[in-house]
Amino acid sequence: MIQLRVQTGTSSYTISVGNRAWQEVGRFCRREKYSSVFIVTESRIWRAWGRKFLQATGLHSASVILVPPGERSKSLAGVKALAQKLVKRRADRESAVVVLGGGVVGDLAGFVASIYMRGIDTIQAPTTMVAQIDSAIGGKTGVNLPEAKNMLGTLTPPRLVAANPEVLGSLSPRAYRSGLYEAVKHGIIQDPRLFHFIRENLKPILAQDPKIMDRLIAWAAGVKVRVVNRDERESDLRRILNFGHTLGHALEAATHYRRFLHGEAVGWGMLLANRIAEEKKMLPPTEARKIEELICSLGPLPSLQGITSRQLVALLGRDKKTVRGVVHWILSERIGSVRIVTRVANTLIEKAFRDVARLPV
Ligand SMILES: NC(=O)c1ccc[n+]([C@@H]2O[C@H](COP(=O)([O-])OP(=O)(O)OC[C@H]3O[C@@H](n4cnc5c(N)ncnc54)[C@H](O)[C@@H]3O)[C@@H](O)[C@H]2O)c1
Ligand SMILES: [Zn+2]
Repeated sequence: MIQLRVQTGTSSYTISVGNRAWQEVGRFCRREKYSSVFIVTESRIWRAWGRKFLQATGLHSASVILVPPGERSKSLAGVKALAQKLVKRRADRESAVVVLGGGVVGDLAGFVASIYMRGIDTIQAPTTMVAQIDSAIGGKTGVNLPEAKNMLGTLTPPRLVAANPEVLGSLSPRAYRSGLYEAVKHGIIQDPRLFHFIRENLKPILAQDPKIMDRLIAWAAGVKVRVVNRDERESDLRRILNFGHTLGHALEAATHYRRFLHGEAVGWGMLLANRIAEEKKMLPPTEARKIEELICSLGPLPSLQGITSRQLVALLGRDKKTVRGVVHWILSERIGSVRIVTRVANTLIEKAFRDVARLPV
């Protein structure tokens, strides 16, 4: 098992990665002596992993709450439904929420826990690649509004994160690949060695070879941990994690969260940001091609058909990274380094959109 530590001015917790990580959840809950524990998960995940999770954690007396799958659960209606279940089952101030799920359940249940009776503890046992390397770490919780993603939320760190890579085995190949775009993102923003590791080990990574999974997840999660440790509150450094997300979120909103999985939208968003950086002569073409090749080799991505660049530009104004009407773009200058740029002409976005739509993904 590999352990990482988040340590900021206001929080400190451990991230355990490995096929025995779930045991840490049980150990932690026993130590904290919670009045009751609520496992929030989805039926599909619970069917596949519930028994093993209970065996590993020993949380046999926990109450299990199932949330409907999909981004649409991350809504105010989802908050209300989950909070009402907690009330009905008598969760109190000393109860804890254990999330067994991907980023959707993690963000939703983390948010509800952070406001339930003004806040109860959350423990994250992430079940997707996105959640294991990104969303379960750092404490950002929240839900979407129909107008825009992640508009309501809190910054409430979990008490523990336990990532068991085995659990990724039941993801559909598409959902698994979707998470790999975020791992590639971590390489591009901060860690060229991670980028090349993924490039050189694509086959075993796509096959989820157990010999490589702990290392990949701990490595990619480690990038997030380093960023969070230096900047928990999202000033400039933490913003780099949003590489590919400005246009990625716009793509998700433009298709009503139905066409793309989150990571897939980020895949397109990175391809677009890559072209924009290249056009602005920030990023050398050789680096741009390497990025493009790796992203394309993780494909296929759902098509951009029917989406117009004008539509995307209109949606950018609603992005959380838009401050005083100015979009903050995260653009790469080489693999392993990105910069925040505020001036990107709409014509440039439109050109990038046309170019990228022709790529063989
Ligand atoms: N809080 C943050 O810092 C942060 C960071 C990145 C992303 N996010 C959010 O995370 C969400 C995306 O997360 P995600 O990609 O994990 O999506 P998700 O939670 O919707 O999971 C993807 C799909 O996989 C299924 N699933 C999950 N685990 C499974 C398993 N082990 N076996 C079989 N099926 C399984 C789910 O039912 C779902 O259909 C987005 O809403 C995004 O905004 C948040
Ligand atoms: Zn993301």
